[in-house]
Amino acid sequence: MSTQPGNARYNWGAVGLHWAVAVLVICTFPLGLYMVGLSLSPLKLKLYSYHKWIGVSVFLLMWLRIGWRILRPPPPLPASMPRWERTVAGAAHGLLYLLLIAAPLSGWLFSSAEGFQTVYLGIIPLPDLLDKDKILADFLRFIHMMLTFTLGGVILLHAGAALKHYFLDRDQVLSRMIPWLKRGDST
Ligand code: HEM
Repeated sequence: MSTQPGNARYNWGAVGLHWAVAVLVICTFPLGLYMVGLSLSPLKLKLYSYHKWIGVSVFLLMWLRIGWRILRPPPPLPASMPRWERTVAGAAHGLLYLLLIAAPLSGWLFSSAEGFQTVYLGIIPLPDLLDKDKILADFLRFIHMMLTFTLGGVILLHAGAALKHYFLDRDQVLSRMIPWLKRGDST
């Protein structure tokens, strides 16, 4: 591994947690969109459960990720990146962390207010965070939709920026998070 500032890769824990969360969000977002359109059926109820379990997994993994990040801070960004881009990248990463906690939490709050307890993986009943309240549930459904759609937008920008670094800037930014990827040729 290079010791040049900005060339160091993320450690295995950070890489594993990043891709685990990415895969789970990529699964549960379209699942959420699909399941709401179904008419009431055993399939719909099953998909709601899967959606909630995946979402709760994201929520739990994010706390693990925050703890890991505190213990093992990420490597600095490449020196070749202009200052404005580092600032934008830092703000986008902060927003992603915030949304990846707030979006699943809003789903959990919404389910509680709807009066549907979440039973994680079908075996661990999670506490209802709110009492049943129809008006609050409708508001929280809207909040959940807003947060998850904002999350989707920020993820697209984040992925687009990573691809721009790989294909246009040809720097090390993407390969820091994909250990088997060939590094870019500029520093
Ligand atoms: C990162 C995690 C999550 C993402 C990306 C996500 C995404 C979504 C999306 C895109 C929808 C469809 C919104 C719409 O079109 O109305 C949805 C609906 C829903 N989500 Fe999530 N969600 C997440 C976590 C959770 C969690 C943790 C729970 C509950 C414990 C949950 C409960 C629900 C419920 C019950 C609905 C159906 C809303 C309705 O019936 O109108 N979600 N979610």
